[in-house]
Amino acid sequence: MKQEKIYLKDYKGPAFSVDSINLDFVINEDFCRVVAKSKMNRTEDGAELRLNGVELKLVSVKIDGTPLKTDQYQITEEELIIPSTPKKFELEIETELQPQHNTSLEGLYKSNGIFCTQCEAQGFRKITYFLDRPDVMTSYSVTIEADKKKYPVLLSNGDRIKIEDLGNGRHKAFWRDPHKKPCYLFALVAGDLGVIRDTFTTSSGRKVNLEVYAVHGKQERCWHAMESLKKSMKWDEETFGLEYDLNDYMIVAIDDFNAGAMENKGLNIFNSRLVLADSNSATDVDFHSIESVVAHEYFHNWTGNRVTLRDWFQLSLKEGLTVFRDQEFSADMTDRGVQRIEDVDALRTGQFAEDAGPNSHPVRPESCMAVDNFFTMTIYEKGSEVIRMMQTIVGRKGFRKGMDEYFKRHDGQAVTTEDFAAAIAEPNGKDFTQFKRWYHQSGTPVVHVTEAYDQAKGEYTLSLEQTCPPTPNQPHKEPFHIPLMMGLLDKNGKELALNCDKIQVNTDGKNLIELKERKETFVFKGLKERPVLSFLREFSAPINLRWEAGEDDLYFLMEKDTDSFNRREMAQKLGLNLLHNLIARHREGKPLNIDNRYLKAISATIRDADMDPSFKAKMLQIPSHAILAQEEEVLDSEAFHNARITLRSAIARENRTQLLDIYHKYHGVEPKSHDPKVFGHRALKNQALHYLAELHDLEILAIANKQYWEAQNMTDRMTALMILADTESEFRDKALSDFYNNWKNDSVVINKWFTAQATTTRKQTLEDVKALTKHPAFNITNPNNVYSLLRAFGANIVRFNDPKTDAYEFYADKILEIDAKNPQVAARLCAAFNFVKKLDPVMKEKAIKQIKRMVAVESLSKNSRELLQSSI
Ligand code: ARG
Ligand code: ZN
Repeated sequence: MKQEKIYLKDYKGPAFSVDSINLDFVINEDFCRVVAKSKMNRTEDGAELRLNGVELKLVSVKIDGTPLKTDQYQITEEELIIPSTPKKFELEIETELQPQHNTSLEGLYKSNGIFCTQCEAQGFRKITYFLDRPDVMTSYSVTIEADKKKYPVLLSNGDRIKIEDLGNGRHKAFWRDPHKKPCYLFALVAGDLGVIRDTFTTSSGRKVNLEVYAVHGKQERCWHAMESLKKSMKWDEETFGLEYDLNDYMIVAIDDFNAGAMENKGLNIFNSRLVLADSNSATDVDFHSIESVVAHEYFHNWTGNRVTLRDWFQLSLKEGLTVFRDQEFSADMTDRGVQRIEDVDALRTGQFAEDAGPNSHPVRPESCMAVDNFFTMTIYEKGSEVIRMMQTIVGRKGFRKGMDEYFKRHDGQAVTTEDFAAAIAEPNGKDFTQFKRWYHQSGTPVVHVTEAYDQAKGEYTLSLEQTCPPTPNQPHKEPFHIPLMMGLLDKNGKELALNCDKIQVNTDGKNLIELKERKETFVFKGLKERPVLSFLREFSAPINLRWEAGEDDLYFLMEKDTDSFNRREMAQKLGLNLLHNLIARHREGKPLNIDNRYLKAISATIRDADMDPSFKAKMLQIPSHAILAQEEEVLDSEAFHNARITLRSAIARENRTQLLDIYHKYHGVEPKSHDPKVFGHRALKNQALHYLAELHDLEILAIANKQYWEAQNMTDRMTALMILADTESEFRDKALSDFYNNWKNDSVVINKWFTAQATTTRKQTLEDVKALTKHPAFNITNPNNVYSLLRAFGANIVRFNDPKTDAYEFYADKILEIDAKNPQVAARLCAAFNFVKKLDPVMKEKAIKQIKRMVAVESLSKNSRELLQSSI
């Protein structure tokens, strides 16, 4: 396999176009035959035809019906090369596959007796030789022939033409997709599946058949996904005027799936974890994730499928935009403020860490080894922030105008992020030349804030300076164009008029500063008293703010800001300052005492009867270890752990009664409801229980135990299980074995049992995880098992980086074992080593030794290699 880099600057359009392709699949138990007939055009004089193909057995290749002799083509590890072709011709290629032995889960593979495909990014080349690149779009006709009993359901993209009984116990389905598409959107499913059906009538009155498939017996758990799909279809019509464009929309749930889900045209294939849900088996968070991922894949029908990518460096064109769209959808379905807090938490926990680590890359990268390594938080989440900033600059109305323009210009095309930016900027009369640096420069910018107030002149001066730390291959950065939403508050918390000529008001009426220079000053006039600054409202840009505001201001904003995001942000900032002090004291061997003012403010929040419960739950969160690992100079897992539990138990001690009141107020109320409001109540009361559990008293433990055994939904059961699993009590083993016995045959739910054990802070967590990798319920070829046990453990900062264990060595062994079968899954585990440069010298040496050991393995995939070698 080639281990070279590919570069964006080398992009060259295809030398051939494909008018149409016919794919005939004959599925047998021991092999599968694929005949691909393409109508080809050579568009470049004298060009040789180079088709991508990997791990394929070629049976025959014909041009216009005549088999090619062996001297008329060449086969390499990754290509089929035909040096000379007519200008217009029919190419016929027959290949033979063994899906049952395909452990990489890309191309055609078998999961639980079901044949299915995953072609993004480059899986189609494991099915047949083809121009496997997104800018080659063509029309697909597909037939699938298989045993009728074993594979009664035969699906592909587009319209179902017919199904023929072949009489010999076999049948054959015919499909045709009326829309041209790149091959990464091709899909096929053959299996014995249960299905639920519904319909959706589009705004222009067309009836669309909706189907959600899962293994027999599980289809009743698909209704939430179905409801989510209908909501998404309606929302996209109302928000962006986008209607669905086929007669059928199908979703299929598969147990073995590398990622979350895939937007194949008309036939989405999903990880079953993101489809199956009922209140017994899924948590509120699962319900919410399913709604948002179903929406995400549906939204791709326009942003990704109708308008697709020119090349893989443009991946954020569809992913950033589609994440933005699913975030906006979720905000409309739930609570906008709380949704924004969650999205920013995810961005900061994952993407900021990625951008500060060895694999930092721009939203539109310039080079890569493995295209599959592009499916990152930067491409998705930071990409979404870039779109959000565009919307902030032009306002919602302006953004809609730009989206309309984007589809008008590019429907049916394969385009670039440049094309998107132009479509938003031009109809709004904006120049995004500087703004586009967000696509090209990696790293998280830092904005330093300095304030001055001149009482005599009644002037408040805000000085901003932006910098961006160096990142791989980018030692120096040009200044970014940063939209900063802001307000000024008087001493009662009322908004003051902003009297400054550099303030912009967007079409939503929001006040913002557009910072473009390295250093800029903004003067606000007519202020009789010193105002309090509320800055970066709604987190209007993905930056780190360095703002040494006085404590009085922080506490004031935490209580009074009109921007809910910032109230919670101030609570986080204060919590972070406090944890920082505790960590320093722990490292110096000093006693850990807690600032009273902070405790009082948190206690006031707990007691605030008017605060919305789901928002309160966010206010009460204290920064995670993953955030501490970014903020602290040294990742000292023991100091982090002690600081955090000291703070949490102090909060619990101070508020024992009030937390119990909250618990009893909401516990058991509407236990089966899926209303986001009720989710919020449950989140708050379960958080109260989590805090109380820090007290390690028997009364609380008994409450948690009771909650486990009497739970009427999975959210309550899991909360209790996680609490009990992180204790040494007698309740622990009983609850864990009960959970196991109830769910051992449920491939989706049993993953929660792995995670509950992989994420504890107990000293023997590593030993538990090691034992679980040998447990009969754990299957190392199943990505969900790997993610819920091993990746969860890798993200357990306290135990993964415990100096007293050999966690790194164990983890490296597992990465190597998985890499040999499934490089994509192995590569996802490598992120556990992203914090290496923050470790103390002894730990760093230990980690680097393991990384070097992995990189030295010659057969290591390019996926894992690319990620690991940059960290040493
Ligand atoms: N396009 C899919 C989605 O976001 C993700 C596919 C993941 N593919 C991969 N190679 N990791 O919605
Ligand atoms: Zn996507």
